[in-house]
Amino acid sequence: MTTYRIAPSLLSADFARLGQEVRAVIDAGADWIHVDVMDNHYVPNLTIGPLVCRAIRPHAQRADGTPVPLDVHLMVQPVDALALAFAEAGADWISFHPDASIHVDRSLQAIRAAGCRSGLVFNPAEPVDRLEWVLDKVDLVLIMSVNPGFGGQGFIDSALRKLERVRRMIDASGRDIRLEVDGGIKADNIRRVADAGADTFVAGSAIFGQGDYRQVIDAMRAELAAGR
Ligand code: DX5
Ligand code: ZN
Repeated sequence: MTTYRIAPSLLSADFARLGQEVRAVIDAGADWIHVDVMDNHYVPNLTIGPLVCRAIRPHAQRADGTPVPLDVHLMVQPVDALALAFAEAGADWISFHPDASIHVDRSLQAIRAAGCRSGLVFNPAEPVDRLEWVLDKVDLVLIMSVNPGFGGQGFIDSALRKLERVRRMIDASGRDIRLEVDGGIKADNIRRVADAGADTFVAGSAIFGQGDYRQVIDAMRAELAAGR
């Protein structure tokens, strides 16, 4: 049975109250915290650096003290130095865009060597073929269903076919690799996206844009449970 994960993106949180926002969304049922790192070079926006990641790390835990994974999505170029800085700042999962790294295999190895799980992210127009050559070095594949850089954009439908293709690759490999989707995810499309093969769902504006985080996360879980 698939274990679904919901990963609220801090991009739509109140940056003046980040620690409280992290706690609130965990109390509301978040499984992971998605941290969008933008450098105003690879994408036209500038967000969170390693210092902020380190500052939110102690807030990312459940009431009983269990740590909640920080899922760091690097939209930066070059990749390696910042990936290591985020590993030191408490990241659990670190993903990057293959077109932002000259040596993708080396970057993946460096992330694992730093004690984190490694992920590769594919933009809407980026082919996933190269995944075949590094499947043994990735713990997560992230399919972008918007162009990276901003929250609140509409879901791009071709991501569904791409998810189906990557799901087949992962299943054929027999490896334990999570398949995450990012961009335009809401309670009213999450079921379709899960049917296409995703098991991990990033949602920014759909959760932090609403007053009641729990209500949205519960609605997403109800959709996921209904389709089983
Ligand atoms: C976009 C980011 C996303 C973004 C998603 O570059 O990677 O994580 O926050 O936001 P929504 O859910 O609003 O599309
Ligand atoms: Zn993201």
